[in-house]
This record gives sequence, structure tokens and C-alpha cells, in this order.
Amino acid sequence: NKRLGIISALAEEQEGLIQAMQHPERHVHGMREYTVGSLWNVEAVAVLSRIGKVAAAMTAALLVERFGVTHILFTGVAGSADANVRVGDVVIAESLVQHDMDAAPLFPRFEVPLTGLAHLPSDLAMSSRLAGAASTFLEGENGATLHRGLIGSGDQFINDGMRLAALKSALPGLLAVEMEGAAVAQVCFELGIPFAVIRTISDNANETAATDFMAFVKTVASRYAFGIIENYCRN
Ligand code: ADE
Repeated sequence: NKRLGIISALAEEQEGLIQAMQHPERHVHGMREYTVGSLWNVEAVAVLSRIGKVAAAMTAALLVERFGVTHILFTGVAGSADANVRVGDVVIAESLVQHDMDAAPLFPRFEVPLTGLAHLPSDLAMSSRLAGAASTFLEGENGATLHRGLIGSGDQFINDGMRLAALKSALPGLLAVEMEGAAVAQVCFELGIPFAVIRTISDNANETAATDFMAFVKTVASRYAFGIIENYCRN
């Protein structure tokens, strides 16, 4: 039986979904609240991971091992790392990199030691279904564009144009930066669980990122997450 785990870092990124759940059952464990129920007839478990790679990894592992999820969807906001990716656009990860991983000279920069991988691929079938759901949703948002490609995750809120430029030159094709996706990707890779990551762009990871982020998560993030996941579940 399939069971979808839905993770966001912050409440604003998932608002409405928990209220939309049928027959919700709440379980508190390890400083997280897991809500088990169904969303548009899809069996689901929704949880807030809190912020950062460790928080996200712990949440993903527990979703699988304790709550029996068979698939994981991460939804939230991100900073843009590409001039063509604008605030209000949506990015779906084709692969994810832990941009602060660096065990050189033992392993190449960015490679997750002993996995042989720097770029952790997301599940193509889930990502394509999600892209369909996002495209349909974005038809109602004038001018917002969907992108698919590389997302970078690290335990840093990027609010510095120089830092972002350095990351972009080290990681060709980087579309967005956030703080959890590649940690979920590693856990799912290691446990053999298909996953996808979708991020709405809240800021440009530059000097105004913090204020842009704060304004955006409050006003837009939850509406996007709700609309896209509704389409995803109904498909
Ligand atoms: N999430 C949203 N914006 C971000 C940024 N600029 N850096 C890291 N994570 C983010």
C-alpha cells in the first residue's frame, strides 16, 4: 500500500494541508507532529521538519521507519540561484547537492562520502507528476514559470551575492538554494524511497533575502503548496 510523506520546514509552507486532511490522527515524536490521514484519497503523513539538513534527515528517516511512508514529497520555498528563476517561480529538483559538503581531499568536493554521488537524483515519475500538477496550478498565476534542474542545500541561509556567485560557479546549472532537500535526498537514496522536491522562489539569496523571504512565506508559500499538492493528489 502506498503512503505519501509530505515534509515542509515551516508551518507557513504547509498551511491548509493539515486542515484538508481527512480522518487526521496526530502523533508527536522527537519534537515533530506527524499528522496521518488522507488528502484527496491519497494516504498521507504531513510533518514540519524544522530547518536544516539534520532536522530534515531525521524527519525523513522517521517518516519511513516509524510512519511507513513509501514516497516523500518535500515542499517549501528557496532562494533563486539563476537570473532566469524569479520570485514566485517554482523549481522542481531533478537532482540535489549538499553545497556545504566538502570532504576533500578524501573525496571530491560535494560528494557524499561512500555514496559515490554529489548529485542525488530525485524520482523522475514523481517529479513529472508534480510538474504536471505545478503547471496546472501556475496557469492561474500570471507570469510564474516552472523550472526543473539542480537544487543546492546547505546549513546556511544565503543572503550574500558573493557567496551565491561562488556557489554558482562551483555548481553549474544550480537553480535554487535551500536548507533541507538534499538531506531528504540522501536519506531516501539510502533507504530506497522515491522522493521529489518542489520549491517556490521567495528571494534572490542576496542582501535583501531575509526581508523578501519573511514577506513571501507569509503571503504566498502556503497557497502554492496547497494548490500544487491538491493537483498532485487528484491526478
Ligand atoms: N530558503 C529560502 N530562501 C533561502 C536562502 N536565501 N538561503 C537558504 N535557504 C532559503
